[in-house]
Formats: sequence, C-alpha cells, structure tokens
Amino acid sequence: MNEPDLLSCVLPTVNSSLNIKDVLEKICDIVTDVFGFRAVWVGLAGEGRGKSIIKSVMQKGFNRGSSASFPLVYQKETIGSINICAGSKNAFTPARIELMKKFSCLAAVAVKNAKLFEETLKTKEQLFQSERMATVGYLTSELVHELSNPLTTILGYAQLIQQQKFSGPSKEDIDKIVSEAKRAKEIALDLLNFARKGLMPELKKGNINSIVNQVLNIKNYDINQNNVRVKKELYGKLPDVMLDSRQIMQVLLNLLDNSIYAILAKKSAGEIRIKTEVITRGQRETSRIEFSDNGIGIPKESINKIFMPFFTTKPAGQGTGLGLAISRRIIEQHGGQMVVSSKPNKYTTFYINLPAQPGL
Ligand SMILES: Nc1ncnc2c1ncn2[C@@H]1O[C@H](COP(=O)(O)OP(=O)(O)OP(=O)(O)O)[C@@H](O)[C@H]1O
Ligand SMILES: [Mg+2]
Repeated sequence: MNEPDLLSCVLPTVNSSLNIKDVLEKICDIVTDVFGFRAVWVGLAGEGRGKSIIKSVMQKGFNRGSSASFPLVYQKETIGSINICAGSKNAFTPARIELMKKFSCLAAVAVKNAKLFEETLKTKEQLFQSERMATVGYLTSELVHELSNPLTTILGYAQLIQQQKFSGPSKEDIDKIVSEAKRAKEIALDLLNFARKGLMPELKKGNINSIVNQVLNIKNYDINQNNVRVKKELYGKLPDVMLDSRQIMQVLLNLLDNSIYAILAKKSAGEIRIKTEVITRGQRETSRIEFSDNGIGIPKESINKIFMPFFTTKPAGQGTGLGLAISRRIIEQHGGQMVVSSKPNKYTTFYINLPAQPGL
C-alpha cells in the first residue's frame, strides 16, 4: 500500500469515535497493527498519566530497538504525543518518519475533536444543573410560603393546648406535636436557605451518639409500627465534635425515613443498623456514622443521581427528592463527606464522616 492509501485507510478508523479513550486506543492499534511497531504510548498534554494509553506487542530482543516521539499538534498547540518503540535499530527511516508525522497530524485532529466534544458535554451538563437549581429556588420559595401558614396554625393551636393542665402521656404527646411542628417550620426555612445557597451551620460542641438516640426516639412510633428492627452499635467513647445538632438530626431523620420506605418496599423483615466510630489519621480525628438498611437497595443506574436535588423514585406527594441533596450539603458544610454504597435487594449503607472540627 502506498503512503496516501495507507493514510486514507486509517483516517476513518481514528475518526470514528468521539470518546477520547477510544480515539487514543485506536491510535495505538494503528501504530502497532497497521504500521507494525512494537509498542506505543499516547499521552495528552496536561492530563497526567491517567488518560494515556499504552499498547505493547513486544517480543524478546526488544532492547535492541529504537524509539521516536511525534507531537500531536493542532493549530500550533501541542495537545499530546505519540511515543513509539520499534523492534529494530534502524526502524525510523526518513520515509517512515515522514509517514508518522502525517499520521500524527490526522491523529491530532481526531483527539482535538474528541476533546471538544467532551467539553461541550460538560458545559451542557453544567447548564442543565444551573437551570435545575434556578427551578429549585423558585419552587422552594413557593413551597415554603405554602407550608408556613398551616404550620404556624398547627403550632399556635398546639401551644394553646400545651398551656392547659394536662399530665402524663397526653402531655408528652402534646409536647411532641409542638416540638415537631417547630422542627417542620425550621425544615421549611432550611429549604429556603438551601435554595439560596445559605444554610451555614451554627456549630456547637455536640455528641453524635446522643443525636442518634434523639432521632430514634422521635421516630420510635414509625419504627415499631413498621416492625423494623434497629441495631445500634454506638461507640462509647465518641468525642464531642463541632456540629449543628439540628442539621445533623435532619440528616439522620431523612436517612431513617428513606430506610423505612426501602424496607417497606421490599416487604420482608427489615433491619436498620446504625454504627458510630472514631477514625484517627495522624492528629486528625473523624467521627463516622454508618447507616445501613436491608431494604430494596439502589439500582446501579440511580446511584449517581440520588444526591441530586429533586431526584426521587417515590410517587408524587410522597417525596420531594431534596432529602439527600440537603443532607450532603449539610455534611459538606460541616467539613465532612457523605457517600453511599448499595446492592439492589440486599443493602444500602450511607457513610458520613464528620471531622472533630471543620477545617482541621
Ligand atoms: N435507603 C435507601 N434505599 C433505597 N433507595 C434509597 C434509599 N435512600 C434513598 N434512596 C433513593 O434515593 C432517592 C432520593 O432520596 P431523597 O431522600 O433525596 O429523596 P426522597 O426520599 O425521594 O424525598 P424527600 O425529599 O422526601 O426526602 C429516593 O427516592 C430513593 O429512590
Ligand atoms: Mg428522603
């Protein structure tokens, strides 16, 4: 095959994909399979080794070979390089060098196309996300407004009843109505702050174990009613950390609600496990909460979406899809991280790490 034929036959192959990894792999394949070199490494400028591709068809006696590098230049910008090893000492004849230079020009165009495509996709995603956030902001203000009025009424009447002379269980029930109505109002305001990107935590020394216990008390009725077994493994010497206890409570309440829902959806004996522990790395102490359930789990295609605002698989009216988005934001504003791991129909575990002091 003469040189123009060779290049016109490889051109469609190298241009047939818009995925950078595929393009780099195709370049490697052509260098080894069509041009017959023994090994090739294609790297992108400024991308580190993570995105480079190496292909080798080496046999014995390789160390007597020769090597050459060809830059990938697109409109005077070097965007990467093709580095080739050959089996024999004099493999790079002037004619082959010329051929490889021309091939590198074609390859550079294919790589640039794929890079531009990737950037366009990223920009589109960002635009989509910001449009979504604008909608969140608008809907949230509406929602909070709608919620505030009935909540204020509930709270007002509950406080009136609270002032009358009740005792025993009735008094406890009324106290619960008052405290929960107050909490609902706070959540509504949090929602507003979330949409406005506020929500900075008010940090005070607090203990995660006692927040876990408080949350379990609040949800006691729901847990028993749905026959869910709760297994607590709370680390006894968990140190106090700087946190906004109301916000951490909100995170745990959402996790509990989600777990109960996932357990009910599976229709088998449900168990929720809450474990706390301390992780020490050097001087840094982190409190970790591990929150698991054996409910329906999260399918692979949803796992990357569950922290997005408004992602919900619950029927209309049963979930807003804001629970985990708010929770992760809260944890990150405490300087921590929140991640998930799940196997459909087996388990879902959320891991929350909270540093003893944000910023340390
Ligand atoms: N423990 C879990 N098991 C299975 N799926 C879960 C679990 N936790 C969350 N999910 C999935 O993640 C989605 C998002 O959860 P998130 O808490 O953000 O919103 P939601 O519970 O649907 O609504 P809400 O705003 O009322 O919390 C859920 O709809 C569900 O599909
Ligand atoms: Mg939820």
